[in-house]
Amino acid sequence: MDKELVVVIDFGGQYNQLVARRVRECNVYCEIYSYKTDLEKIKAMNPKGIILTGGPSSCYEENAATCSPELFALGIPVLGLCYGAQLMSHVLGGRVERAAAREYGKTALKVDNTSRLFEGVSENTTCWMSHFDYIAKMAPGFRAIATTDNCPVAAAECVEKNLYAIQFHPEVLHTPEGSKMLYNFVRGICNCRGDWRMDSFVEEQINAIREKVGKGKVLCALSGGVDSSVAAVLLSKAVGEQLTCVFVDHGLLRKDEGDEVEAVFGPNGNYNLNFIRVNVQERFYEKLAGVSEPEQKRKIIGEEFIRVFEEEAKKIGAVDFLVQGTIYPDVVESGLGGESAVIKSHHNVGGLPDCVEFKEIIEPLRSLFKDEVRKAGLELGIPEYLVFRQPFPGPGLGVRIVGEVTADKVRIVQEADAIYREEIAKAGLERSIGQYFAALTNMRSVGVMGDERTYDYAVALRAVNTIDFMTAEAVEIPFGVLQTVMSRIINEVRGVNRVFYDLTSKPPGTIEFE
Ligand code: XMP
Repeated sequence: MDKELVVVIDFGGQYNQLVARRVRECNVYCEIYSYKTDLEKIKAMNPKGIILTGGPSSCYEENAATCSPELFALGIPVLGLCYGAQLMSHVLGGRVERAAAREYGKTALKVDNTSRLFEGVSENTTCWMSHFDYIAKMAPGFRAIATTDNCPVAAAECVEKNLYAIQFHPEVLHTPEGSKMLYNFVRGICNCRGDWRMDSFVEEQINAIREKVGKGKVLCALSGGVDSSVAAVLLSKAVGEQLTCVFVDHGLLRKDEGDEVEAVFGPNGNYNLNFIRVNVQERFYEKLAGVSEPEQKRKIIGEEFIRVFEEEAKKIGAVDFLVQGTIYPDVVESGLGGESAVIKSHHNVGGLPDCVEFKEIIEPLRSLFKDEVRKAGLELGIPEYLVFRQPFPGPGLGVRIVGEVTADKVRIVQEADAIYREEIAKAGLERSIGQYFAALTNMRSVGVMGDERTYDYAVALRAVNTIDFMTAEAVEIPFGVLQTVMSRIINEVRGVNRVFYDLTSKPPGTIEFE
């Protein structure tokens, strides 16, 4: 099939996923690869364009991440961003040096909009800069097409060779006309048709799954979250009765969630998924007893998950395929798809044990970003309230309870979270907040209730807005709403005597607590 591809080469910059998402927003499919990827492999993919991301190093240093000059001689348009721009200049004979002053933040930019890269962009615009080094001398054949007060080469081009360099970050929202620049590159300069759409993705996946599975039996891990629900419905459309969906109630779900999932996907719901619910709450609590290290908790939950599936599979008889709702950010964040550091091992990728008794894993959403998964869900006819559900991490409340997990702590966080969600809905804020939940800190402190001394836990409320879950800002929830939530939690949830609101953005915090 003739699928157009843009390759994003990752030099370890923090915005690499964002670059890829912006390209997809132009209806152009793209994938992220490490800068260490063999050039032959990249050539074999026959990309319509290549984008080099930012990165933390200085390109003139020994052992800095680099690329072969051949990359620029393939006849494929290349766009270098930040480090990528400097590297392009450096490799092609220009000079990159440490700047007298670091340029950081929103910066006034003057562009030459006769360049195809800046077609339709205002002559005086704003960009987001973040660099120590700068292009002191352009490589031969290049001309400057943008400047800032401190940066004589904020962008450069060599039209004959289809090479473009941008010192700033067009992918972040702080560069308001950045999307236009990326659109100009992928749709204009690379000449991509822009036919990456969810209707065709769904159709292609259904056909590909049918072909791969043949008459095999498929077991799907259904959690009730957006990703696994979309994966399950996709599979059921593709292979119907050959699919069995197992829903593991690991006791780390939100309050009443197990019953809600069963109501939608179970025998009385709208789908024919051969739904099996496994109640293994106690088993998970036992495994987690005494464990407080976050990565270890994640690994235990992930591995136990797989064990439960193995056992279920044995009961069902021979199973050939296991479906997982892994999505692209999981792949990249787990350090498998690029250069980014492993911050947390996501259970749907990292925790796979060695002795998996299945022929193969199917991950139909592995190449999609979250917003694309939602579009695919709507395409499949899944109701909006499920499709626009808040994200919920695979390890569940296990990562919202700081320290050791116990049944009682789970009860506390479930009840507190249910109250929080109820009040947010009452205040009409549900749709305007990206993700919000209650977490249980591991801190107990002294309080007083009804003239009695208490020594109880503190609950933390979290609410963030985010575009990509890579960065996030705390939401300004009206104080009155927070007060209602606080007083209801303290009055209604036994074991809590303090409520905090978490103001931390990401970075430096993460969205979940562990
Ligand atoms: P963090 O805590 O890394 O979370 O800032 C970013 C987003 O990812 C979700 N998350 C997970 N999702 N498996 C998942 O499927 C996981 O192990 C996992 N850990 C975090 C988190 O809820 C947030 O939306």
